Amino acid sequence: FGVGGYKGGMTDRRLEAAWAALMRHRKQAQARPMRALFKTDSNRARRFTLVLGDMLLDYSKNRVAPRTMALLFDLARAAGVEAWRDRMFAGERINATENRAALHTALRNRADTPVMVDGHDVMPAVNAVLGRMGGFADAVRSGQWLGATGKRIAAVVNIGIGGSDLGPAMAVEALSAYRQRGLSFRFVSNVDGAEIARTLQGLDPARTLFIVASKTFTTEETMLNAATARGWLTAELGEVAVARHFVAVSTNAKAVRDFGIDPANMFEFWDWVGGRYSMWSAVGLAIMLAVGPDRFAEMLDGAHAMDRHFRDAPLEQNMPAVLALIGVWNANVLGAESHAILPYDQGLRLLPAYLQQADMESNGKSVRRDGKPVKRATSPIVFGQPGTNGQHAFYQLIHQGTRIVPCDFIAPARSQYPTGRHHAVLLANFLAQSEALMLGRSEKEARAELLKAGTKGAALSALLPHKVFPGNRPSNTILLKELTPHALGMLIALYEHKIFVQGAVWGVNSFDQWGVELGKELAGKILPAVESGARLDKLHPATCELLKRIRTWSRD
Ligand code: F6P
Repeated sequence: FGVGGYKGGMTDRRLEAAWAALMRHRKQAQARPMRALFKTDSNRARRFTLVLGDMLLDYSKNRVAPRTMALLFDLARAAGVEAWRDRMFAGERINATENRAALHTALRNRADTPVMVDGHDVMPAVNAVLGRMGGFADAVRSGQWLGATGKRIAAVVNIGIGGSDLGPAMAVEALSAYRQRGLSFRFVSNVDGAEIARTLQGLDPARTLFIVASKTFTTEETMLNAATARGWLTAELGEVAVARHFVAVSTNAKAVRDFGIDPANMFEFWDWVGGRYSMWSAVGLAIMLAVGPDRFAEMLDGAHAMDRHFRDAPLEQNMPAVLALIGVWNANVLGAESHAILPYDQGLRLLPAYLQQADMESNGKSVRRDGKPVKRATSPIVFGQPGTNGQHAFYQLIHQGTRIVPCDFIAPARSQYPTGRHHAVLLANFLAQSEALMLGRSEKEARAELLKAGTKGAALSALLPHKVFPGNRPSNTILLKELTPHALGMLIALYEHKIFVQGAVWGVNSFDQWGVELGKELAGKILPAVESGARLDKLHPATCELLKRIRTWSRD
């Protein structure tokens, strides 16, 4: 491997040949809509379904034929996906621009086999932190850990942003059925003071525990929110209370100490854990407090099961690889620009936001590992909403708009909140949407429907074009038996590895995020002018004009 592990030369030629073969195949694949494919292959739904434990992936409602899949597997092999995967699991520094390994898989290595980074096994440290987290979570949950005035903790506030917020917030919500009673959870991320102000309203400082979660412990938003929370607490209970009400999750022990948090109350993780891959680490402390150490371990077990599958299964049967390659087909061959995450489970309502960061921060890149421009589109624009809410908001575009929006429909077969007919109605909608997207409604069918409803003549002609659905719109279906901690672990690891495979195919480093830096730097330069009236002449005119107006309006 050359620069950043990129082989160049021969690999490039083989890869380009694989892309060219796919592009040549496109016309043939486009010629037969999915409707026709299902008609001629009665086994299609089963042929394009993979099952792993209590999870099923059905990718039959995509514009692919067996030949398409074969070409996609060729592409993955030409891109060296398997070699990159093995290097990731082996702890190599595949995040070359930050000179780091990407070893979130070690955090859930339930087999406890040694995982070496620079000749050093990281598993003892991983297990030690998990043990400390477990001890702390048990103490808080059982009421053994008391606040400074001797009261039990009733509210946990996680202060963090990006990966230090989205993972725990998403998982605490997803696992609400397993949550400890008498302990509430809130998540503060935005630097907009409204969020911390509203979060603190109604909380009792004597019964509140803050988790300050930040890999770097320098992130401006988190540090400011933590300082505000600290001020709120100490105003009521004094400085001595900090030790009983603040814990930190970080890789930066010095900054934690400087902030005034006792290092004994710090839960460590390591630079080889990327922020958006960190919910399995101490960043998951809020999850552990919510569901307890045993359930947290089940979540790790689920992720580990997916890791083993990803590591060992041939690409043809490999769920993350298949999901990734379908995405590559949709984005790079069919030209889709976005990707919708549509969980039919209210517990997964934060999954779209979580996957937005996971996908777009990982693969939203336009240079390859070797610094050369990428040749094709990379991460899609990820968005989503839980079903059925989205159906009444943006699905119109997905069904009849001018763009192709590939969708992932996700649902559990069993509800954890069985309530009358609700789950049956939810599942009927879940199944109907992907079928409708695939089948569409032809002009002939639309006409028959209108005639049946008594619409005729000019009225029928006027309405007809609006009633036609083009169909042939791609989607994947991910079915879980139930949204258990184990299933959630599998699901998140599935997407992590999907993103990894796509990054490998596109040749980008999925583990850095330089694109977030420029805005941060400029905000630092602009802040003095916003905050303390510093001179404007050093600022760009585009910013100056807006700032003048901000000054006028904030004085009024
Ligand atoms: O600015 C982007 C980012 O670095 C993310 O990658 C990360 O998840 C988030 O900020 C928070 O970073 P930290 O955990 O260091 O506060």
